[in-house]
Amino acid sequence: MSHRRLSASALAVSFGHREVLRGADLEIPRGKRLALLGANGSGKTTLLRTLAGSQKPTGGAVLVDGKPVTFDRAGLRTHRQVVQLVAQNPDDQLFAADVFRDVSFGPLNLGLSEVEVRQRVANALAVLSIEDLAERPIHELSYGQRKRVAIAGALAMEPCVMLLDEPTAGLDPQGVDEMVAALESLLDAHTTVVISTHDVEFALSWADSVAVLVEGRVRHGSATELLSDPELVSAARLRQPLVLQAARMLGVAPEGVTDIDTLVAAVQAQSPARDSIASRSA
Ligand SMILES: Nc1ncnc2c1ncn2[C@@H]1O[C@H](COP(=O)(O)OP(=O)(O)O)[C@@H](O)[C@H]1O
Ligand SMILES: [Mg+2]
Repeated sequence: MSHRRLSASALAVSFGHREVLRGADLEIPRGKRLALLGANGSGKTTLLRTLAGSQKPTGGAVLVDGKPVTFDRAGLRTHRQVVQLVAQNPDDQLFAADVFRDVSFGPLNLGLSEVEVRQRVANALAVLSIEDLAERPIHELSYGQRKRVAIAGALAMEPCVMLLDEPTAGLDPQGVDEMVAALESLLDAHTTVVISTHDVEFALSWADSVAVLVEGRVRHGSATELLSDPELVSAARLRQPLVLQAARMLGVAPEGVTDIDTLVAAVQAQSPARDSIASRSA
C-alpha cells in the first residue's frame, strides 16, 4: 500500500499574520517510519493537516508522485484514499455509536459494497488487535482504545500513507507499548507511517528518519545526526536525547545509538576491557 510518494514543496501556511509554515520541503520515504519533531506551536499539526488535505496551503504544494494535489472536492476525494490523518484527540474523530459503525463510515462513503466494507473493517480491527471491541459503544472505551479505533478508521480507507498526530501523547507506558505495536502492524501492512511528537527519545528509538520543524521549515535526516546538532536542537526548542548526551560524555560515537541498549553496546564495543571487568565482578 506504500507505493505512492507523498511530498511537500515550499509549503507555506499562514493564519492571519502568523506564518506557521514558511517554505517547508519534505520528501516522505515510502514504507518507512518518519517522526516529525517540533516544540509545541511549531506547526506539526498544521503540516500534517496540510499534507492530509485538511488545510489549504497559502503557498507551495502537496505532491503525490510529483503531481500537485488540487484542493477541490474531486482532488481531495482522491487524496483521502492516498493519505489519512489520525487526529491527536480521538474524540475529534470518532462520532458513531459503536466501533463497527465508526470504522465502516469511511469505506461506506467510498461507495464500496457491504461485503467489501465488512472485510475492510475486519482487517483494520485485526491489524490494531481490537477485534473484540467491534460491537462496543465508543463511550465505554478507554482513551488508548479510542485512539486505536481512530487509527482503525483511517486504516480502513487503505491509505498508502498514515499521518498520526502525537499518537503517544497522553498514554501511560503500557498504552505507549500498545501504540508502538499498532504502528508496527501498520508498517507490516506496507503503510508509510508518519507521526508527530515532541518526544525526542521516542523519535530516536522509533523512527527511520526524523523531520525537525524549525521556524516554519523542515530539516529531514538521520535522527542521531540531527538530534546531536546542538544548534538545530536549540533552534527547534527541543533537547538532545539523554542517550546521545550520555554517548558524548562517555566519548563514544553516537552513530547507531538509539536507546539505552544500543548505548551500552556502543560503550562495550569501545572498551571491551571494561566490559570483561564488569562481567567478572558480576
Ligand atoms: N486554525 C488556526 N487558526 C489560527 N491559528 C492557528 C490555527 N491552527 C494553528 N494555529 C497556530 O499555528 C501555530 C502552530 O500550531 P500547530 O500546528 O498546532 O503546532 P503544533 O502541532 O506543533 O503544536 C500555533 O501558533 C497555533 O496557535
Ligand atoms: Mg499539534
